[in-house]
Amino acid sequence: MSRERSDKRRGGFMRIAVAGIGAIGSRHVENIREVGHQAVTVDCARPADYAHVGQVASPGDLDAWVVATPTETHLSVVEQILRRDGGARVLVEKPVCSPRDLASLTRVVANHPHARITVNDIYAHSAAVRKFAEVVREIREKPDPIRKVSVEFTKNRCRDVSLGRFVDTQYGEAGYEWFHILSVLRAVLPSADYDVLVRSAPGFVTPDVSVDVMLPGLPDIELHASTVGRIRFGKLGEPALRSPLALEHTAEGFIPFGSEFRYRFARVEFASGREALLAFEPYFGEAKDYRNTHLINVRDPLGPPEWRSYTITSNQLREGLLVQLHNLVRGYDGPQGIRLPEHRYLTALAERVRDSHQHTRRAIHA
Ligand SMILES: NC(=O)c1ccc[n+]([C@@H]2O[C@H](COP(=O)([O-])OP(=O)(O)OC[C@H]3O[C@@H](n4cnc5c(N)ncnc54)[C@H](O)[C@@H]3O)[C@@H](O)[C@H]2O)c1
Repeated sequence: MSRERSDKRRGGFMRIAVAGIGAIGSRHVENIREVGHQAVTVDCARPADYAHVGQVASPGDLDAWVVATPTETHLSVVEQILRRDGGARVLVEKPVCSPRDLASLTRVVANHPHARITVNDIYAHSAAVRKFAEVVREIREKPDPIRKVSVEFTKNRCRDVSLGRFVDTQYGEAGYEWFHILSVLRAVLPSADYDVLVRSAPGFVTPDVSVDVMLPGLPDIELHASTVGRIRFGKLGEPALRSPLALEHTAEGFIPFGSEFRYRFARVEFASGREALLAFEPYFGEAKDYRNTHLINVRDPLGPPEWRSYTITSNQLREGLLVQLHNLVRGYDGPQGIRLPEHRYLTALAERVRDSHQHTRRAIHA
């Protein structure tokens, strides 16, 4: 059901309340305002229009809410919003809530059939990921089945943490990049394979965190995300990197403290030997808006030796936010909602990471 409040009253512009204007919420506010929508800010500890969601005036006059408070507060903030407006449109930052709150959030969603609650899934709406999925699908349909998928999302977040940025104490490492990694996998794998993967226990998991998935009938899948800068697959993403500094870090296998470099790529290898590679931000430091340029490379062992390349220019955070808000308000988004299977997977992954840390500690002390 669509409310279409903004079309009637504000000539297509929306009025959005953003709860939590820390690192990510403040960027949402900027992005909302930059395109002419109105943002109402709510933060209990920073200068904002309101300190609490319960104080926001005329909630019925809002088109949607964005919840960007720390993860462990998401359930209570969503409940407060729904007490103000039982039909609210709410985009909640990922992870959608703490693992222990997933059952309660599911009940809250079921008890508010006129509301729409969606978890912010940037990579599901990324132009680069969508183009990459199209390239991969074309090759798969030749037919040339996928043999292996590798995805890495590594950053050195130690400076952010030392500056007091929100630390995910519930999902641990699994709370940062793994939701995005699942979105990329969902885009490239056949949907039946993805469903098997996300409903299975994570495969072999290391403390730092690497996951190797070996499930019958599925391609080999190797995944890695480090928040302390440890690179696992430096060689795999290199062919798409265009920045000497980025290449230096991948060769060293480490992103140093304070560096803004994010090593993010997805690579699909096919039975024929074809390869498709997507690198996010491969021009790191080379251009002012390097964050918005992404590269897809495709190589066919039977074709010309050079890679076929596509450049995709897109501000993923802004476009993902605006598309999802638009869909929420217009009611176009289908039942994507809170992505429960993904959050159950993240919960299982967080447990496996904790177990592997304990195992390592025991081995050291033995
Ligand atoms: N989608 C992404 O790629 C992405 C990236 C970063 C963070 N996140 C998620 O965004 C959320 C916030 O992360 P962050 O790094 O911006 O945190 P942050 O600590 O920088 O900001 C959180 C803000 O929320 C405020 N706050 C806390 N409780 C509140 C309440 N009940 N009502 C109003 N304000 C409240 C705090 O004062 C703070 O300003 C987390 O869930 C995190 O996982 C998502």
